[in-house]
Amino acid sequence: MNPTSKDASRGIRIKGVSKHYAGTPRPAVDDVSLDIADGEFMTLLGPSGSGKTTILSMLAGFVSVSAGSIEIDGQDVSRLKPHKRDLGVVFQQYALFPHLTVAKNVAFPLQQRKMPKAEIAAKVAETLDLVHLGDYADRLPRQLSGGQQQRVALARAVVYEPRALLMDEPLGALDKRLRDQLQREIARMHRELGMTFIFVTHDQHEALTLSDRIAVFNEGGIEQVGTPADLYERPETLFVAQFLGESTGFRGTVDKAAGILRCGSHALRAPRLDAGLDGAPGVAVVRPERLVLHAEASAVAADHNHIGATITEIVYVGDRHQVGLRFDDGTQGVASHPVGPSLPAMPGERVAVSWDPRHQAIVPDRPGGAATEVVPAGA
Ligand SMILES: Nc1ncnc2c1ncn2[C@@H]1O[C@H](COP(=O)(O)OP(=O)(O)OP(=O)(O)O)[C@@H](O)[C@H]1O
Ligand SMILES: [Mg+2]
Repeated sequence: MNPTSKDASRGIRIKGVSKHYAGTPRPAVDDVSLDIADGEFMTLLGPSGSGKTTILSMLAGFVSVSAGSIEIDGQDVSRLKPHKRDLGVVFQQYALFPHLTVAKNVAFPLQQRKMPKAEIAAKVAETLDLVHLGDYADRLPRQLSGGQQQRVALARAVVYEPRALLMDEPLGALDKRLRDQLQREIARMHRELGMTFIFVTHDQHEALTLSDRIAVFNEGGIEQVGTPADLYERPETLFVAQFLGESTGFRGTVDKAAGILRCGSHALRAPRLDAGLDGAPGVAVVRPERLVLHAEASAVAADHNHIGATITEIVYVGDRHQVGLRFDDGTQGVASHPVGPSLPAMPGERVAVSWDPRHQAIVPDRPGGAATEVVPAGA
């Protein structure tokens, strides 16, 4: 979906919003601003305690804002009661009415809105079809699997055609296979409904596969907002580089005039450097699939970066080899090597590791960031 094709006055604007819970030392959410376009799939991604649920709860109206405002389609809703905001909400726990059938659970919000009975029946049937539960209308929640219950919750949240659907880790309680299946269902629902979806997760893979854009949260603030490719290919901070996907980080000092990052005795080519970084500590972040292993440094293209390394381990992970590396500047890293071509060396042996400098991101080396630490996939 292309959000720009929609009416620009519509959408959700979070303007300088903060939340300071009484009796806590720091704000849970600190001056967050984010515009979500009409029809966009926006994911809030971040570690535990970074403020994702707090933001979603303020959007839904379950938690008051301490500062700032929230606008929906140009209307300030910051002080409106939850049911006046016209938003659908799904949480990790299904929270269905246990004594009502599937159809009655889904009908409930329509009855509350006093929709005529015949229209309710038609709308419930249509929405159950949307979540592929047309044959389950008369079952009780306890007669359904976890994935089916969550689909009922999704149906109940969208049946009255709210302005947006807010979801807080809706797949968190499901096993991996069901999770993957429901991810595809949610993506399809988004396409079919054209509704704004705001989705909270701490699962990077889920965020990358589902979203139009992702906002990465860290300690109550947003580190970076962008498309999945923006965040993966062009992270702006060490936190984003490490939280989203695996990477190797070469620490050094930026020399803008020379267009390099100096890492000990190594000089890495770094075109397109940010002026603000000149003379400052920086980290060259490279994704595993961008690193190429060679038996000899003479095989490396002249305009590519390369550093010698010793292979520490080779792990076969089915679709590729994951190659652990100890680089000559002391950096620990990881490369991904395709399973087809043979590996140029074995553990304990030397390789030259190269990459195209256009495929690295130079980010500020902020205190606390552990650039040389490789974050394993799925951690
Ligand atoms: N009702 C509350 N009262 C006081 N502090 C709270 C309350 N709810 C959350 N917090 C604190 O606010 C911070 C952000 O919490 P929040 O639940 O928004 O994080 P989260 O990103 O959703 O984390 P998780 O991934 O674990 O769900 C945390 O430090 C948390 O302890
Ligand atoms: Mg949460």
